[in-house]
Amino acid sequence: MAQPGQPVLFVAASALVALAGCAGTNGAKPGEPTAQAVSMKGALADVARVRAYIYGSGSQADAAAAANQLDEFGKGLPTLFPPKSAPNEYVDMSPERVRAAPQAVTAAAQALSTAITTGERAQVAKALETMERNGCGVCHRPAAVPHT
Ligand code: HEC
Repeated sequence: MAQPGQPVLFVAASALVALAGCAGTNGAKPGEPTAQAVSMKGALADVARVRAYIYGSGSQADAAAAANQLDEFGKGLPTLFPPKSAPNEYVDMSPERVRAAPQAVTAAAQALSTAITTGERAQVAKALETMERNGCGVCHRPAAVPHT
C-alpha cells in the first residue's frame, strides 16, 4: 500500500494542500493556471498512474498512492468549488452537481483503493472506469477527460 519513504508522493500531496489553502476561485495571476486547473491535472495524473498499474507498467504501491491522492482530491473539491459561489462562476456547475461531486469522487476513490488491494487488475480496471464515469463524470463527460 502507500508506503512512507516515497518523497515524490509527499511533495505532490503537500502541493495539493497548499493549493487548496489559497484557492480563491480563479485567483490566479494572468498567464498562470488556476488552482482548479492545477488540481485537475494532478487528478488526471493520478488516474494515469492507476491505469499504468492496470496495463502492467506501474506498481501496485504507486497505484494505491494515486488512489489515496484521488480520495484527497475528492475531499478538497468543496474548497476548489465552494458550493455557494461555484455555480455562479462556472457555466455548467449546478448546485446539485457541486454538492454531489465530493462524495461521488471519494466513494469511487475508496472503491478503487479496495480494488487495488486485491491485486486483481480486472477489478482495478472496473473501479477506475467507475471513477471516471461516476466520479469525474459528475462534472465531465467521461470522453472529455483526456487519457494519457
Ligand atoms: C466538481 C466538478 C469536477 C469534478 C468532480 C472533476 N472535475 Fe475536472 N474540471 C472541472 C472544472 C470546472 C474544470 C475547469 C477548471 C479550470 O480550468 O478552472 C476541470 C478541468 C479538468 C481538466 C483540465 C485541466 C487543465 O489542464 O486546465 C482535467 C484534465 C480534468 N478536469 C480532469 C478531471 C479528472 C481526472 C477528474 C476525476 C478524478 C475530474 N476532473 C473531476 C470540474 C470537475
